[in-house]
Amino acid sequence: MPLDVPTAILQRRSIKSFKPDPIDPELLRQLVELTVAAPSSYNLQDWRIVVVQDPEQRAALGVACFNQPQIIQAPVNFVFAVDVKAGERDINPIIEQGIQTGAWNEGTANYFKKAIPEFAVALGDKAREYAIKDAMIAATHAMLAAESLGLSTCMMNGWNEAKVKAVIGAENDPDIAIALVLPIGYAAEPRKNPGRMPFEFNVSLDRIDRPYQG
Ligand SMILES: Cc1cc2nc3c(=O)[nH]c(=O)nc-3n(C[C@H](O)[C@H](O)[C@H](O)COP(=O)(O)O)c2cc1C
Repeated sequence: MPLDVPTAILQRRSIKSFKPDPIDPELLRQLVELTVAAPSSYNLQDWRIVVVQDPEQRAALGVACFNQPQIIQAPVNFVFAVDVKAGERDINPIIEQGIQTGAWNEGTANYFKKAIPEFAVALGDKAREYAIKDAMIAATHAMLAAESLGLSTCMMNGWNEAKVKAVIGAENDPDIAIALVLPIGYAAEPRKNPGRMPFEFNVSLDRIDRPYQG
């Protein structure tokens, strides 16, 4: 039985050491399915997720991530890359699917056909930030889905972007950016919760200067 969402959220820890045990392909497939179920701006699905499983690829990824051991130990790593220009490309397949599922009517579809490219161009140098937001939401889905399914993860910012791009074969594509690397596997050790500050530290009511007390 998968864990419910509140339990998965509260029991999850960033795991720094993984067993070599592989992830069953069916379980991996389920994890991918739950990851891409994440929402994205205009349903653009602008993440480009590379499932890194091959031992040589994992070793190279480990080097690109400052030799952090989680990467090489975990049987699978999800590299959350993004296509920064996704909104400027052919969005018709996404629009068609929205119509076919019945989620979008003709009016919505026609609005999106016009609005999405305009929005994408207007983003200018914020395009990368917007794509990264979508990828981080997908990565959060992956992290919590993994926990719920009995796996562990460690979100990772510690890498060299150019090197990670080279490992996944995107070194010549200026429109690909890296959002996050997520090792996934079976925890080799328990880890303690480093704790969270009380609400008033970073949660406020109505205005940022009014601490939320709970
Ligand atoms: C975006 C992000 C990047 C992180 N990068 C790393 C990393 O490169 N290496 C690492 O060991 N932990 C990394 N962490 C894990 C944090 O240190 C960890 O989430 C934090 O200490 C809280 O612990 P917990 O996840 O067990 O609650 C990262 C976490 C986040 C959310």
